[in-house]
Amino acid sequence: MAREGTKKQAQAGQGDALQPTPGGPSKPPKVGTGPASERCRAGSGGEGGVKGQGLLIKGKEEVEEALNLRPRRLAEYIGQGQVVESLGIAIEAAKKRGDAVDHVLLYGPPGLGKTTLAHIIAKEMDVGIVTTSGPALEKGGDLIGILTHLKKGDVFFIDEIHRLPRTVEEYLYSAVEDFAISIVFDKGSHARSYRSRLEKFTLVGATTRAGLISSPLRERFGIQRALDFYTMEELCRVVRRSAALLQVPVDEEGVVEIARRSRGTPRIANRILRRVRDYAQVRHAGVITRPVTQEALELEGIDGEGLTTLDKKFLETVIIHYKGGPVGLEAIAAVLQEETDTLVDMVEPFLLKAGFILRTPKGRKATDKAHGYLGLPKTSAEERQLSFLPGQR
Ligand code: ADE
Repeated sequence: MAREGTKKQAQAGQGDALQPTPGGPSKPPKVGTGPASERCRAGSGGEGGVKGQGLLIKGKEEVEEALNLRPRRLAEYIGQGQVVESLGIAIEAAKKRGDAVDHVLLYGPPGLGKTTLAHIIAKEMDVGIVTTSGPALEKGGDLIGILTHLKKGDVFFIDEIHRLPRTVEEYLYSAVEDFAISIVFDKGSHARSYRSRLEKFTLVGATTRAGLISSPLRERFGIQRALDFYTMEELCRVVRRSAALLQVPVDEEGVVEIARRSRGTPRIANRILRRVRDYAQVRHAGVITRPVTQEALELEGIDGEGLTTLDKKFLETVIIHYKGGPVGLEAIAAVLQEETDTLVDMVEPFLLKAGFILRTPKGRKATDKAHGYLGLPKTSAEERQLSFLPGQR
């Protein structure tokens, strides 16, 4: 029996047997302090959007610095022109109506600004933001605990939303569509269900794998936008802005050199900038120039195109081990002893974008550019044929 319950009732019952949760009863996390989510008021200074599950975090200092470098307003945000423009319109319209912004799904490779945009939406709307990630929400109760604490208009940010367990995802459907959840108490013939109303909120989902989101969930986002790699010009602007915020002197050649090695990704540009700043302080007079950047990044294992040791090993595996491909990702991962997820999220997107590999129905192939870049000759058709004969591998 479904009975309309008050929000208070729902919260009071959270310690009981919440269902359907195959893992059994689940206690809601303390919003704002628990590991499953972090809450902050947009613009309160204490940004809560940093993932705490070993996903992003480096040193506390670096995290704070990263947050300081993040743009807080749409007007400060560099790049993603159309995405920023359409979010700006959605925000302005919602404000005029006194409404929450429609649910937003942001997808694209890591480091392009999905989390930053979620925080900006909250800041521009002058509402709070609660942040969590798909894998942190293990049970329905984890989600309900957060949803029932949301205030009117709040932004609820779920990073890696494609990793949301299916049972949790099912709770989300009615929450985002009707701003209500059904909570079931007890089991079997004693089961009772309460429908609890929620405040109207904005769900912002972020994912590196849009393809892994189920269509019922995807369809519930009114705004769906892909973030793309940044251009050189945009990256140069990011580096100049960050250098100014960090008060690091950098000449124009230094800016270009850092941007060139940043794989189209502002997070990498900022990380590189910090490493080069340290190097310039310790080994030079503190000024970032092209030669200083080149020296510093050689030490960091980042080459002139921004390729890392892992990128190069990936390409060498395809070219040397698998004669240029096509080869399946699992086979490459096995040789490299890496998780396929790491390769899909962190390595492949830039190699594809920069034209070093191709993704074909039969697997990954190294391009002429990759062969030329690594100075490795292409395997001839004859050699390739021979390698398939018994005893040739
Ligand atoms: N820092 C990191 N990403 C940025 C962006 N998109 N715009 C401005 N500064 C940034």
